[in-house]
Formats: sequence, C-alpha cells, structure tokens
Amino acid sequence: MNIPSHIFTIFGASGDLTKRKILPALFHLFAEGRIGPDCIIVGTGRKQMDDETFRDLTLEALAEAGFGGGENAAKWCTGCIFYHCLGDGSPENYKRLGERLAGLEKEHGLPGNRAFYLALPPDAFPQVIENIGEAGLADSGGWSRLVIEKPFGRDLDSALRLNEHIHRWFEEDQIYRIDHYLGKETVQNLLVFRFANAMFESIWNRDRIDHIQITVAESLGVEHRARYYDKAGAVRDMVQNHIAQLLTMITMEVPGRFEPRAIMREKVKVLRSIMPLQPGDIVLGQYDAGDGKPGYRDEEGTGEDSITPTFAAIRLHVDTWRWKGTPIYIRTGKRMPVKTTQISVVFEHPPVCFFRAMEGCTPRPNILNISIQPDESFTLSFDVKKPGEPFTLESQDLHFSYADTFGRLPDAYETLLLDIMTGDQTLFVHADEVEASWKFFEPALDHGLPLARYAAGTWGPDEVAELLLREGRTWSVRQGG
Ligand SMILES: NC(=O)c1ccc[n+]([C@@H]2O[C@H](COP(=O)([O-])OP(=O)(O)OC[C@H]3O[C@@H](n4cnc5c(N)ncnc54)[C@H](OP(=O)(O)O)[C@@H]3O)[C@@H](O)[C@H]2O)c1
Repeated sequence: MNIPSHIFTIFGASGDLTKRKILPALFHLFAEGRIGPDCIIVGTGRKQMDDETFRDLTLEALAEAGFGGGENAAKWCTGCIFYHCLGDGSPENYKRLGERLAGLEKEHGLPGNRAFYLALPPDAFPQVIENIGEAGLADSGGWSRLVIEKPFGRDLDSALRLNEHIHRWFEEDQIYRIDHYLGKETVQNLLVFRFANAMFESIWNRDRIDHIQITVAESLGVEHRARYYDKAGAVRDMVQNHIAQLLTMITMEVPGRFEPRAIMREKVKVLRSIMPLQPGDIVLGQYDAGDGKPGYRDEEGTGEDSITPTFAAIRLHVDTWRWKGTPIYIRTGKRMPVKTTQISVVFEHPPVCFFRAMEGCTPRPNILNISIQPDESFTLSFDVKKPGEPFTLESQDLHFSYADTFGRLPDAYETLLLDIMTGDQTLFVHADEVEASWKFFEPALDHGLPLARYAAGTWGPDEVAELLLREGRTWSVRQGG
C-alpha cells in the first residue's frame, strides 16, 4: 500500500489516548515499513514543551506499549516526531502552527497533505476546529482530513450542531469520525462472514433466528475517567456508538458495492427502521459496592448523589421485512464479572422436537457466538448425541479463533490510521449515521427513567433478566473463548 507523504498533526498530544493508542500504533506502522519517514508527526497542545521533551514522552509511551528500547524507536523519534505549543490557543498561535507545518513541509519536501487528529476532550472540539479552519491550516495545496474521536455530541441536538459547525470548514469526505470498534478485525469480518458465505445469508432472517443479543461488558469501574463519564453514562459511552455499529453490521442488507457510501447507506437504513423505544424496553442501572470494589458514587470524581447510569439494557426491533418480530437485546455495563464483547445469534428451536419424550434430550437452540474482545473468535454451538447409553444430547462447538489461525492481529488504531492516510472512509462513521443513532437512542438518555441498583461484580440489576424472561428467553454469555 502506498501511503502519500504527509503531516499527521495530533491535537491533545500529551493526553492519554495519544500516549496509549495513537503513538504506539504510528510507531508500529513505521517499524513494519507500512509508513515511511515522509510521514511526519506533529504533536500539539497548550502545554509548553519542545521537540526533545515530546520525543522523550513518545519513547516512554512506546516503552509502556512494549515497543521500547530499540534503535528504530529512537530513529523514528528524531526524524519524524515534532511538537508545537499552542499556548492559550489564540488564532495567532494557530497561524504560527500553520507556519511551522509549512516549514516542515518545505524541509522534508512534502506536498501539503495534512491530517488533523483531535485527541481532545469533546468540549474542546468546536473551538479547535474553528481555529484550524480560520487559520487556513487545511488549505495547504494537498489533501486535508479531520479526525474526530468519540463521543460525537451528547444528544441529537448537539450532534447536529457539531456536524453543522465542522461542515463550515470541512466537506463530509474529509471527515473521519472514529469508532475504534470498526477497526477491529472481527467487526470487519462480520461483513465477510455474512456476505461471502452463502450458507448464512439464507438463514439470516426472522424465519430462522429467534433473537440476537449484544453484550459489551467491562470488568473495570470508572477508573480515571470520572470527569467525562459522570456527564456521559453508559448509553452515550457505549450504546449510541459502539453497540449501534455492531447492531447495524449484524442486521444490515447487503450493500450494492464494497465502498463507503453504499455500506453507510445500508447502516443508516437499519437505524432508521428501528421501532421507537418505549420506557419498558429500557433498563438503566448503577453499581453499588460489591466483590471488594467501591460503589460508583464512592469512586473518585463522581458525586455522592450521581444518577449517571453505568449499565444499560435495551430491547429493540428492527422493523424490516428481514427482521420483523425478531427482538434484539443489547446490554452494557461497568463492573461486570468479566470484560467481554460478544454478539450471540440465537437460532430457532427445531419446529418438531423428535426427542421430546426422552429424558435428557431437550435440544438447545444453535447459537452463533461472535466474540469481539478479549479474544476474537466465532463459535457455533450445536447438539450431538453423547456416545453410549442412555440416549442423551450434548452441546458441542465449532470454534474459530483469529489468534490461533493468524497470530497477532493489527491493533484497531493501526488499521484506522492507515485508512485515514489512504483516504478510505469505509470504517468511519458518516454524519447521517451519527444523527440517526442519536435520534433512535434519545429516549434512553436522561429522561427520568428509573435507575436500578446492582452490586459490582454482577451482571446488572435484576430487572435486566426480566427483559428477556418475560419473553421466555435468557441472556447467554460465552466464557473463555
Ligand atoms: N483515553 C482513551 O482510552 C480514549 C478511548 C476512546 C476515545 N477517547 C476519546 O479521545 C479523546 C481524548 O481522550 P484522552 O483520554 O486522551 O483525553 P485527555 O487525556 O483528558 O486530554 C487530551 C489532551 O487534550 C488537551 N486538552 C484538554 N482540555 C483542552 C481544551 N479545553 N482545549 C484544548 N486542549 C485541551 C490536553 O493537552 P494540553 O493541556 O497540552 O492542551 C490533554 O492532554 C476524547 O474525546 C475521548 O473521549 C479516549
């Protein structure tokens, strides 16, 4: 793949995301020869720092990510890493940044291609975008691309305003809204699995699938992110973005072509086809102390009367020809028993139970489990006859693990960064998707819904089991790959 020479400017260069994800991913791309020394990285921020100090921070970040110590890292830092202080963030300081970028382009013989990555707290997005636009940083003779981290707005209204604001300086085909789930191999493979294997397509509908479950569970609590999380909560942090993406990829129709616009259109169609949520479809919860862990309200940075949900479960229906009447259950929470992201596609029971009169012979539905993290795998469960007597059915698995077959998988950020550099928007979120998703999930935001309690280390409030039980179903989660 030929990556065009460019400057990759990171706003928020001293932050957590830059340190843990962006710099290690960029370095790994360099170390593997996927980007060359003509990809210049400029970190920016309000903090006073010179190039050398930022290079030292970069080396520290690489060491923490397991890439430290090598000559290659030092070479990369010296040749490719620079820092520019934005001070108080005034327009003059952005003009100076423009001069610095132009100077580096001249020095390194670059054609003026520029990516601007906003690794910033969301409330800083509008001002920084305006400063970039007004200082003409995006008018440099080559391509220019704006990369925005999640969360994109905090409701429909703010997302619409943010889109409108960005569109004053950037066209939609210059905007890369990150949802890092889309960079994961298993998530991309959902498209291959569904649309390159004819056997699944014929059963991928309401006639053969009883229901679908999507679980995104985190074992950690709010950690150091309370300042952001206490204003966001589970629906904004996980449901409206990551889970909405998984939902659309598992239920969308086959796009006409494998190209960003065609895929995006199918995803938007799903989001626009979901029946409006009713209060009875939603369970929100917040964790109390349990399993030796403090309750949410006792975590550092949260309030003792905080009503931020750390758990959300929703039942929804995609009202299309394919899915009419097939419920989809989603749930996400902090301080769950394990960290896992899974999609379970639960097939119908056999229409006639041939073995029903025999004890120990109740067939279970086939379940296709798609594990997205921590392991990336597909598992299809089916019943077999257990050898010997008495006649008994036993559930067994067909299992495919990415790591066992392919070894190390690229980090999601490596995939996404390369796509930004090559101008491929397939794995990024379009304005229409963001807006359709906010519109659908709005009723699950802060509209006076009850907040159930659950103990840390459990699978959420009791009410969440009832969401399925009242329809004769139970949550399933696959443990241990
Ligand atoms: N951290 C993660 O794991 C993670 C995961 C997914 C998404 N994200 C998203 O990525 C973005 C960055 O997250 P982060 O955890 O790296 O944030 P962070 O550590 O809180 O902040 C990043 C940097 O932004 C700069 N900054 C802070 N407030 C600013 C302001 N008002 N105006 C201009 N610059 C400001 C700061 O640098 P200076 O003081 O030098 O300006 C800070 O070092 C957020 O949108 C977050 O939601 C983060």
